[in-house]
Amino acid sequence: MDDAIASLRSVRHFLPHPVPRVTIEEIIEVARWTGSARNRQPWRFVAVTDPAIREQLSRLGDYALLLARAPLVLALLSHDDGFADTEFDLGRIAQSICLAAHQRGLGTCLTTLHPDDNVRAAAEPLGAGPGWFPRHAIAVGYTDAENHRTPTAIPVGRLPVRELLTWVR
Ligand SMILES: Cc1cc2nc3c(=O)[nH]c(=O)nc-3n(C[C@H](O)[C@H](O)[C@H](O)COP(=O)(O)O)c2cc1C
Repeated sequence: MDDAIASLRSVRHFLPHPVPRVTIEEIIEVARWTGSARNRQPWRFVAVTDPAIREQLSRLGDYALLLARAPLVLALLSHDDGFADTEFDLGRIAQSICLAAHQRGLGTCLTTLHPDDNVRAAAEPLGAGPGWFPRHAIAVGYTDAENHRTPTAIPVGRLPVRELLTWVR
């Protein structure tokens, strides 16, 4: 699939090469233009290369072990102010980040940190300010093409357009 959007897949195996700081800054430069409800931009990002912190984060979600294997983890912090659109906004920015990384030849995989105790535990090593919580983190790195296709328990593929789309005329 060579469509720039449709070809985005989760990558869970990475080469050990570091991700240049300038590339992460470019990705955030692009992604920060993502729209959010009332333009509140209820997001902050923490880039982590420290192996001990990545290891710690990898134990704070059910399927987050890959965070220890990725050369860089980008934690997404959302502002918990009770605004109903915040998580929707965070989904949009996460997709922008993954697409911008994909465009630059980098692989990504979103991970969920949970339950809430684990989210609070992750906030401390990330230096999150009061009211900011890391509910998701993105593993980032150059794809290890040899292992990328390793089967997972998660089903692949997508529902067809005819099942997803209905028309009212
Ligand atoms: C909100 C969200 C949370 C996710 N959490 C995890 C996770 O914790 N661990 C993981 O390995 N993949 C996680 N994924 C990746 C999904 O499993 C993946 O997107 C889905 O299986 C489709 O595969 P693809 O992205 O390769 O097309 C998450 C994806 C999203 C959108």
